Amino acid sequence: MSQPSARPWVRVIHGPNLNLLGAREPEIYGSRSLDALNTSLRELAAQLDVELDLRQSNHEGQIIDWVQECRRVASQRSVGLIINPAGYTHTSVAIQDAIRGVSIPVIEVHLSNIYGREALRHSSVTGVACAGVIMGFGFDSYLLALKHLAAELTR
Ligand code: DQA
Repeated sequence: MSQPSARPWVRVIHGPNLNLLGAREPEIYGSRSLDALNTSLRELAAQLDVELDLRQSNHEGQIIDWVQECRRVASQRSVGLIINPAGYTHTSVAIQDAIRGVSIPVIEVHLSNIYGREALRHSSVTGVACAGVIMGFGFDSYLLALKHLAAELTR
């Protein structure tokens, strides 16, 4: 039987429309692509000795399934989740429930500062269920979240 790995495992979920990063509203989200963001995350994860699992979906149910799946992995490994629910941030009670249902540290991230934008983006339905929310720092929002989880999961 294989031994459970001691390395922490962090899943990153990019929500709807983040597949268009770089092309979509670059004045807000920047001109770098999702591949570039994932490359930066992989480089940092290698330095921190964290195993990364990177996902993107435009579908709420798929995101919920991926959040729930973390429960199964957490029975074997030390697990954390970084999630950018994108547009679902402001609407999805179902994603909030999924986050509440996993007993692992979850950090919500946003590239932009949602409080500096239109009023409809000022509340996060999903963020209230998370350990913390990091926003407004572009790619660094994700990188800061990964640094925090790497420290917390090896503590
Ligand atoms: C976002 C902010 C959301 O309001 C928006 O719907 C997104 C991206 C961000 O990363 O800044 O799609 O989550």
